[in-house]
Amino acid sequence: MIKLIKNLQSHQLVIEKKANSLQGKISIPGDKSISHRALMLGAMALGETTIEGLLLGEDPRSTAHCFEAMGAKISDLNTEKVIVTGIGQERLQEPSSILDAGNSGTTMRLMLGLLASQPDKFFTVTGDDSLRTRPMSRVIQPLQQMGAIIYGRNSNKNAPLAVIGQNLKPIHYHSPIASAQVKSCILLAGLMTEGKTTVTEPALSRDHSERMLRAFGATLEIDVDTHSVTIEGGAKLQGQTVIVPGDISSAAFWLVAGAITPHSELIIENVGINPTRTGILEALQMMDADITIFNQREAAGEPVADLRVKSSKLKACTLEGSIIPRLIDEIPILAVAACFAQGTTVIKDAEELRVKESDRLKVMALELGKMGAKIREFADGLEIIGGNLLNGADLDSFTDHRIAMSLAIAGLNAQGKTIINRAEAASISYPTFVDTLIKISQ
Ligand code: S3P
Repeated sequence: MIKLIKNLQSHQLVIEKKANSLQGKISIPGDKSISHRALMLGAMALGETTIEGLLLGEDPRSTAHCFEAMGAKISDLNTEKVIVTGIGQERLQEPSSILDAGNSGTTMRLMLGLLASQPDKFFTVTGDDSLRTRPMSRVIQPLQQMGAIIYGRNSNKNAPLAVIGQNLKPIHYHSPIASAQVKSCILLAGLMTEGKTTVTEPALSRDHSERMLRAFGATLEIDVDTHSVTIEGGAKLQGQTVIVPGDISSAAFWLVAGAITPHSELIIENVGINPTRTGILEALQMMDADITIFNQREAAGEPVADLRVKSSKLKACTLEGSIIPRLIDEIPILAVAACFAQGTTVIKDAEELRVKESDRLKVMALELGKMGAKIREFADGLEIIGGNLLNGADLDSFTDHRIAMSLAIAGLNAQGKTIINRAEAASISYPTFVDTLIKISQ
């Protein structure tokens, strides 16, 4: 039996025993990255943007609230089609209060590119306990090179931040990290800046901003060999219809659950399979997971498919290098898969996980360790010796949505009872996660 105990402050997810089998058809919520971008570009564009399939998680809600406070009109988020009426030719309005990005790094980092480039406007931005510890210098420094004026705590490293918008100048920024948040922040600042702004990254990160900026009317040049993107400033964005595909990062929990749970077959419908995000499929295929990709199609400029996963005998693999940015959010659930794979799985080049919503390397090593997993933590990754039984344990999400959900899938396959404390974190990206977990476990 699986139950969610809702206490005033936090929720406990209780999984009484190992699942015998998982069966069913799952429709997953909208892609978080695409949802943020649809709200932001819609808010900046002329006319109306219709968003179908927007993720109703806490993170996109934070983006919506911020842009409403700066003049965009956004219809009720709880409907099938959300209409955003953008500011068009106007500048963003100076908000009368502090902008709150909540738990969302994407909201804060992408928005900073737009705020820094609004001449003479003053903005203050904050976030929750987790976001206020996360590094903002990775976007503040390049924006400062463009002439931005931004102040923050700890010598401009952390929020709360104060921004005095400026007329910026274009730059060519060589990012030391493959980060779509950094790339998108600079591209959005470049959109508002006369001339050509270029970002080069060491490996390709997700390209949703590039696709959507083009669809809204911006001019971009992309050099796939050097991982460089150039945007021409000054384009007037036009409202569009955006159809948000299901989030492959949310599908990942069911892909692993279906593969590691005996006698299982799950179909996951309408999953975004943008090649900059499909590292999880490649990793699970390397591990011999039985996954079929079918009904491939395109929705509003993004590739989409249905996925089928069946119980599989997994084998260990090594994940490193350029695949890492293409599965960066899936490493916690891949660590769970590795516990059920024969052999030693090694994950390297993943130091970015230390500055996500929690230190995901440390937390996964700690929490899976409590279940008896043979897992070792390194500066940039994990080593997991698979093939040993996991035991149920009293676990904590550390308020990180992807940790909460990864541990739930581990608990579903552990001997005895597992409790996940602060399980409400899942609603950041997947508000209906527990409902689906209960439905397919019956
Ligand atoms: C995101 C990019 C990734 C990812 C995050 C969402 C985005 O972060 O981890 O969940 O929407 O651009 P980085 O770009 O910082 O790696």
